[in-house]
Amino acid sequence: MHTLLGIDLGTTGVKAALFSADDGQVVVDAFVGYPLFHPHPGWAEQNPSDWWQATITAIRACLEAAAQWGVQASDVRGVGFSGQMHGIVLLDEQQQVVRPCIIWADQRSAAQSEWMTEKVGASRLIEYVSNPALTGFSAPKLLWVRDNEPDVFARVRTLLLPKDYIRYRFTGVMAMEISDAAGTCLLDVKHGAWSRGVLTAIGLDAALLPPVVAADKVSGTTTEEVAALTGLPVGIPVAGGGADNACGAVGNGVVVSGLALVSIGTSGVVLAYSDTARVDTSAAVPRVHTFNHAVAHAWYLMGVTQGAGLSLRWVRDNIGLPERALERWTGQAAYDTLAQEAANVPPGSQGLIFLPYLQGERTPHLDAYARGGWIGLSASHDRRHLIRSVMEGVAFSLKDCFCIIREQGLQLEQVRATGGGAKGLLWRQIIADVLGVELVITNATEGAAFGAALLAGVASGVYSSVQEACEQTVRVVERTEPRPAVAQVYDTAYEVYKALYPALKPIMSRPT
Ligand code: XUL
Repeated sequence: MHTLLGIDLGTTGVKAALFSADDGQVVVDAFVGYPLFHPHPGWAEQNPSDWWQATITAIRACLEAAAQWGVQASDVRGVGFSGQMHGIVLLDEQQQVVRPCIIWADQRSAAQSEWMTEKVGASRLIEYVSNPALTGFSAPKLLWVRDNEPDVFARVRTLLLPKDYIRYRFTGVMAMEISDAAGTCLLDVKHGAWSRGVLTAIGLDAALLPPVVAADKVSGTTTEEVAALTGLPVGIPVAGGGADNACGAVGNGVVVSGLALVSIGTSGVVLAYSDTARVDTSAAVPRVHTFNHAVAHAWYLMGVTQGAGLSLRWVRDNIGLPERALERWTGQAAYDTLAQEAANVPPGSQGLIFLPYLQGERTPHLDAYARGGWIGLSASHDRRHLIRSVMEGVAFSLKDCFCIIREQGLQLEQVRATGGGAKGLLWRQIIADVLGVELVITNATEGAAFGAALLAGVASGVYSSVQEACEQTVRVVERTEPRPAVAQVYDTAYEVYKALYPALKPIMSRPT
């Protein structure tokens, strides 16, 4: 059996999965977690060395489990990486990491985003890179290091993104893959090349940026060191891979016009395929991102809510004390328990509304200082309402993204759901009811890792194109229909939800 290895470097941990190249079935998978640090409110950092150790452990676990099924490491035809976007991995002259990675969720660079917008000019920035400067993106994070840690910055020779750093350690080849490079705010997204205009305006040396490579082409091969560490053979083709959202789209077959993806990982995303680099022009500052897809000459529009799974995880960790004491409070079992409790209260959580802005917010507010909260709490509410309202608040935030994307004139014929949060029926049903559309699930249970594996399959010649890879392996397996009566309840609640942020913005103060 020929297999493809897909690795998704997420925010909570890394997933390695081995797939059959013929039908895309998962042979084995392994997940290894790593810590996320919040040194100050709104900050979020991880150690690239934790990613590296976890990746090696996950691959070894996968290969050892596969061997028990008679599937050997020598059967692996290609390796692909998917990863959390935007985080800055800074390397010195000896290619050593100089500081922890400031990851996508980090909000410290609001001043740098404003400075960058002023320096380049707001409309020229959109012309150059198709996106505004946001705290979520890489360039403002890099400028924060330049402004606040000049000694560290002076040592920096190369900027890589999380999965590109791991791919570099795998192959020895420094490169930034295009769908991820799009999220730096330094890439001319229309043409797929570094933007001289932006780099000059903000005084960044182009030498910091490695070459841009395609998602579905070989970017290097496994080294002897990696072979010794993982058990993979030397010389296996490693694809460029893709941003986690691009790979999630590939893994769910969102590679043609008319298809969209709703994803609930740590962040929540609504993404729609586009065959042009169209930009959200219905607001002064684009509220959804325009990024290159992992499919050549294709793009997607994407709205992002910062705290989707993150919000429910916060509930799990902070309001879940009884089960924690029983030591059942980990993994999927904890989320199943939360969902069972939430299912016991009616849609709308009896007037309780949650704002999921625990880590600032991107779409639609683009506000690093937005903060979360419950509004409408009464003595008759209990823990079940708190849980359900979190799931509903995230769904409302996804509706914000969905409506803006629909306003751009893209035909959204089918919406596919993916990510850990979409695995349970309750949250999926809530999202279908809130959006008022059918959500479908594909056989791709490991969306982003699977997408990365398919890209590896294209790079290594197993498939002739990304579309062909998806046609051969991705099928719709389940449908969740919106329920009109419940949708009506949510329409009313959504109106209240939408009114809350503008009303509260003046008192969501800047952190000291
Ligand atoms: C997208 C984004 C997040 C991360 C999560 O712009 O910041 O979805 O990619 O891994």
